[in-house]
Amino acid sequence: MAAAREHFGSRLGFILAAAGSAVGIGNLVAFPVAATKSGGGAFLLVYALFVFFICLPVMMAELALGRKSDKDPVGAYRQVSGGSRFWSLPGWLALVTPFMIAVFYLVVTVWILGYLVEALRGNLDQLATGAYFGQFINSPMVFVYLIVVMLGINGILTLGVKDGIERAAKTLMPMLFVMLLALVIFVLTRENAMLGVKYYLIPDFSKINPEVISKAMAQAFFSLSLGMGIMITYGSYMKKQDSIPSSSRAVAITDTLVAFTAGLLILPSIFHFNPQINPAELSDSSAGMIFLFLPKIFYALQSSIGYFGASAFAAVFFFLVLVAALTSLVSIIEVPVATLRDERNMDRKKAIYTIAAVQLVLAICCAVSFGLVQWFTEFATIAGENKSFFDLVEMIFYDTILPLNGLLVCLFVIYKWKRANFDRELQEGDSGFAGTFSQKYVNFSLGTFIPLILLLIFINTLALKFFGHSFI
Ligand code: PHE
Repeated sequence: MAAAREHFGSRLGFILAAAGSAVGIGNLVAFPVAATKSGGGAFLLVYALFVFFICLPVMMAELALGRKSDKDPVGAYRQVSGGSRFWSLPGWLALVTPFMIAVFYLVVTVWILGYLVEALRGNLDQLATGAYFGQFINSPMVFVYLIVVMLGINGILTLGVKDGIERAAKTLMPMLFVMLLALVIFVLTRENAMLGVKYYLIPDFSKINPEVISKAMAQAFFSLSLGMGIMITYGSYMKKQDSIPSSSRAVAITDTLVAFTAGLLILPSIFHFNPQINPAELSDSSAGMIFLFLPKIFYALQSSIGYFGASAFAAVFFFLVLVAALTSLVSIIEVPVATLRDERNMDRKKAIYTIAAVQLVLAICCAVSFGLVQWFTEFATIAGENKSFFDLVEMIFYDTILPLNGLLVCLFVIYKWKRANFDRELQEGDSGFAGTFSQKYVNFSLGTFIPLILLLIFINTLALKFFGHSFI
């Protein structure tokens, strides 16, 4: 007989765990970089609109689906669809997607740990040389750090939903908020910091074009951990008496506030480093920012706050990003673990070992695809460009499948599960929700323009990434 399903102990526990999932490298680095390059305050506005009007309803749909079925994504789709073969497809996608995203996210997290260790050892001069990154990611230390990160995540997962995931979130998330605030306060007192704040907040609407809009949407969707089966799984650990609408709002607000605050850290740091900089010329990539540009800024801090001060600042920064990444990884790896438990009746430990073994192999394939193993480095040629195994995983699962999964959730909840059933689940634990504007909006938008927007993004990404063409 299967053991009773585990649940989060409290509403706050759920909110912190879900926020732990949502707050990740995306918030701390990708968001500030995107805002910098795409019109500052104007981007923030577009992003916030997407979070609250498009992503929030999808989050409610995922949580409701999970809580109703009390199952992992595969089981949730199967049970709620009454065993439909067609609708088992999104269930499987909501399992494979997090599994593969976890693999590439794991590799980036490993690099962050490596940079944290170097910052702690006081080697900022080394980190600041552009060449270090290439050497480091191809060094044997990557495999050692990979084991360390996997032990940490799987250690938390072994303890279960309440004693592992929830307890880790309750400890790590407040720590993350404090570290982030401390870094922001410090940076804001630096010379020329206000130039960065201005650049970040003053809207430049001329930069808003269809590409920026689609970028903001993709960023918001990823940042809220949607389309990855995570919210379906976490929904299944929610208690019936907790309100899905208000908990989702709390998660979305926390996630957005953290992303916004991270901008107040990154931009002032850039302008303190070089007040003449034109941020539009910075690299688009988060990895470029974390591993190439920020270390230069940290190193330059030595002239004003000394060797120890600069090393400490860098170490706190990398630790902050590491914590954010670990809590996200915990949530994403819990998805396949839940599937093995629910669908194969495995006990938690066995499920964790099984997933970890496969993930270790795939993560190694990603880690060696930067030159160590030629076959993985030149894994495929797509739209005339060489793609490594790492690139390919990111391109297929993160860029392309994520919006497709979101689209399928919307269609499933509204047209298969049906509006009335979905509404009933949202009212469970929130009797005041019925008849509110929010209820009407969520119900209408999920069946109409939200799936349409996600469909457009999916088609456009497919065309752009795989055929080198963009419609927008
Ligand atoms: N929300 C995370 C971020 O912003 C995305 C993510 C979630 C990635 C879970 C991996 C696992 O980085």
